[in-house]
Amino acid sequence: MTRFGIKTICLAAVISVASFSGAVMAADGAALYMSKTCVACHGKDGKTPIMPTYPKIAGQNKEYAQQQMMDIKSGARSNGMTAAMKGVMHLVSDEEIAALAEYVSGLTP
Ligand code: HEC
Repeated sequence: MTRFGIKTICLAAVISVASFSGAVMAADGAALYMSKTCVACHGKDGKTPIMPTYPKIAGQNKEYAQQQMMDIKSGARSNGMTAAMKGVMHLVSDEEIAALAEYVSGLTP
Protein backbone atom coordinates (compact mmCIF):
# COMPACT_ATOMS: atom_id res chain seq x y z
CA MET A 1 0.00 0.00 0.00
CA THR A 2 2.75 2.42 1.01
CA ARG A 3 4.90 1.53 -2.01
CA PHE A 4 1.97 2.08 -4.32
CA GLY A 5 1.51 5.46 -2.72
CA ILE A 6 5.11 6.48 -3.36
CA LYS A 7 4.93 5.35 -6.98
CA THR A 8 1.83 7.43 -7.47
CA ILE A 9 3.54 10.47 -6.00
CA CYS A 10 6.59 9.94 -8.25
CA LEU A 11 4.40 9.66 -11.32
CA ALA A 12 2.56 12.82 -10.36
CA ALA A 13 5.90 14.57 -9.89
CA VAL A 14 7.09 13.49 -13.35
CA ILE A 15 3.87 14.67 -14.95
CA SER A 16 3.97 18.04 -13.20
CA VAL A 17 7.63 18.57 -14.15
CA ALA A 18 6.79 17.77 -17.78
CA SER A 19 3.87 20.17 -17.90
CA PHE A 20 5.85 22.77 -15.98
CA SER A 21 8.66 22.79 -18.56
CA GLY A 22 6.04 23.16 -21.29
CA ALA A 23 4.60 26.13 -19.47
CA VAL A 24 8.05 27.68 -19.11
CA MET A 25 8.62 27.43 -22.88
CA ALA A 26 5.33 29.17 -23.59
CA ALA A 27 5.97 31.79 -20.91
CA ASP A 28 9.36 32.44 -22.44
CA GLY A 29 7.93 33.77 -25.70
CA ALA A 30 5.31 35.75 -23.80
CA ALA A 31 7.94 37.28 -21.52
CA LEU A 32 10.17 38.14 -24.48
CA TYR A 33 7.25 39.74 -26.28
CA MET A 34 6.85 42.13 -23.33
CA SER A 35 10.51 42.69 -22.47
CA LYS A 36 11.87 43.08 -26.03
CA THR A 37 9.44 45.91 -26.83
CA CYS A 38 7.35 43.96 -29.38
CA VAL A 39 4.26 44.86 -27.38
CA ALA A 40 4.87 48.58 -27.91
CA CYS A 41 4.32 48.40 -31.68
CA HIS A 42 2.24 45.28 -32.25
CA GLY A 43 -0.03 45.60 -29.20
CA LYS A 44 -0.58 43.33 -26.22
CA ASP A 45 -2.68 40.90 -28.24
CA GLY A 46 -0.55 41.08 -31.41
CA LYS A 47 -3.45 42.54 -33.38
CA THR A 48 -3.68 46.15 -32.22
CA PRO A 49 -0.60 47.78 -33.78
CA ILE A 50 0.04 51.40 -32.86
CA MET A 51 0.10 52.43 -36.52
CA PRO A 52 -2.26 51.34 -39.30
CA THR A 53 0.82 50.66 -41.42
CA TYR A 54 2.15 48.12 -38.86
CA PRO A 55 1.11 44.49 -39.28
CA LYS A 56 -1.17 42.39 -37.10
CA ILE A 57 0.86 39.32 -36.20
CA ALA A 58 -1.45 37.30 -33.93
CA GLY A 59 -2.02 33.82 -35.31
CA GLN A 60 0.56 34.25 -38.07
CA ASN A 61 2.20 31.03 -39.29
CA LYS A 62 5.11 30.24 -37.01
CA GLU A 63 7.57 29.45 -39.81
CA TYR A 64 6.62 32.55 -41.77
CA ALA A 65 6.85 34.85 -38.75
CA GLN A 66 10.23 33.41 -37.84
CA GLN A 67 11.56 33.85 -41.39
CA GLN A 68 10.31 37.45 -41.60
CA MET A 69 11.99 38.31 -38.32
CA MET A 70 15.25 36.72 -39.47
CA ASP A 71 15.03 38.64 -42.75
CA ILE A 72 14.26 41.94 -41.04
CA LYS A 73 17.16 41.37 -38.65
CA SER A 74 19.61 40.53 -41.44
CA GLY A 75 18.38 43.28 -43.74
CA ALA A 76 17.21 40.82 -46.44
CA ARG A 77 13.72 42.26 -45.95
CA SER A 78 13.80 45.99 -46.38
CA ASN A 79 10.84 48.07 -47.42
CA GLY A 80 9.06 51.20 -46.25
CA MET A 81 8.21 50.05 -42.75
CA THR A 82 10.99 47.58 -42.05
CA ALA A 83 13.32 50.14 -40.50
CA ALA A 84 10.92 50.65 -37.59
CA MET A 85 11.26 47.05 -36.52
CA LYS A 86 14.86 46.49 -37.54
CA GLY A 87 15.84 48.98 -34.86
CA VAL A 88 14.94 46.53 -32.08
CA MET A 89 16.04 43.28 -33.70
CA HIS A 90 19.52 43.51 -32.20
CA LEU A 91 17.76 42.83 -28.88
CA VAL A 92 16.79 39.28 -29.85
CA SER A 93 18.90 36.21 -30.59
CA ASP A 94 17.93 33.62 -33.22
CA GLU A 95 16.66 31.35 -30.41
CA GLU A 96 14.54 34.16 -29.00
CA ILE A 97 13.13 34.86 -32.47
CA ALA A 98 12.05 31.20 -32.65
CA ALA A 99 10.36 31.47 -29.24
CA LEU A 100 8.65 34.69 -30.26
CA ALA A 101 7.42 33.16 -33.52
CA GLU A 102 5.99 30.27 -31.52
CA TYR A 103 4.29 32.72 -29.16
CA VAL A 104 2.72 35.04 -31.74
CA SER A 105 1.51 32.11 -33.84
CA GLY A 106 -0.45 30.94 -30.80
CA LEU A 107 -2.22 34.27 -30.24
CA THR A 108 -5.85 34.51 -31.31
CA PRO A 109 -6.02 36.36 -34.63
C1 HEC B 1 9.15 50.06 -33.46
C2 HEC B 1 8.01 49.22 -33.80
C3 HEC B 1 8.20 47.72 -33.81
C4 HEC B 1 8.72 46.94 -32.82
C5 HEC B 1 9.30 47.37 -31.48
C6 HEC B 1 8.61 45.57 -33.29
N1 HEC B 1 8.02 45.53 -34.51
FE1 HEC B 1 7.58 43.87 -35.59
N2 HEC B 1 7.13 45.01 -37.17
C7 HEC B 1 7.03 46.37 -37.17
C8 HEC B 1 6.75 46.84 -38.52
C9 HEC B 1 6.56 48.29 -38.93
C10 HEC B 1 6.69 45.68 -39.32
C11 HEC B 1 6.46 45.63 -40.83
C12 HEC B 1 7.81 45.73 -41.52
C13 HEC B 1 7.75 45.90 -43.01
O1 HEC B 1 6.83 46.56 -43.50
O2 HEC B 1 8.64 45.35 -43.67
C14 HEC B 1 6.91 44.55 -38.45
C15 HEC B 1 6.88 43.22 -38.86
C16 HEC B 1 6.87 42.16 -38.00
C17 HEC B 1 6.64 40.79 -38.39
C18 HEC B 1 6.35 40.28 -39.79
C19 HEC B 1 4.89 40.42 -40.08
C20 HEC B 1 4.51 40.00 -41.47
O3 HEC B 1 3.31 39.79 -41.71
O4 HEC B 1 5.38 39.87 -42.35
C21 HEC B 1 6.70 40.04 -37.25
C22 HEC B 1 6.48 38.55 -37.14
C23 HEC B 1 7.00 40.95 -36.16
N3 HEC B 1 7.09 42.22 -36.65
C24 HEC B 1 7.18 40.56 -34.85
C25 HEC B 1 7.79 41.39 -33.90
C26 HEC B 1 8.35 40.92 -32.65
C27 HEC B 1 8.24 39.50 -32.13
C28 HEC B 1 8.90 42.00 -32.03
C29 HEC B 1 9.71 42.04 -30.74
C30 HEC B 1 11.03 41.43 -30.83
C31 HEC B 1 8.66 43.15 -32.89
N4 HEC B 1 8.01 42.73 -34.01
C32 HEC B 1 9.03 44.45 -32.58
C33 HEC B 1 7.19 47.21 -36.08
C34 HEC B 1 7.77 46.83 -34.88
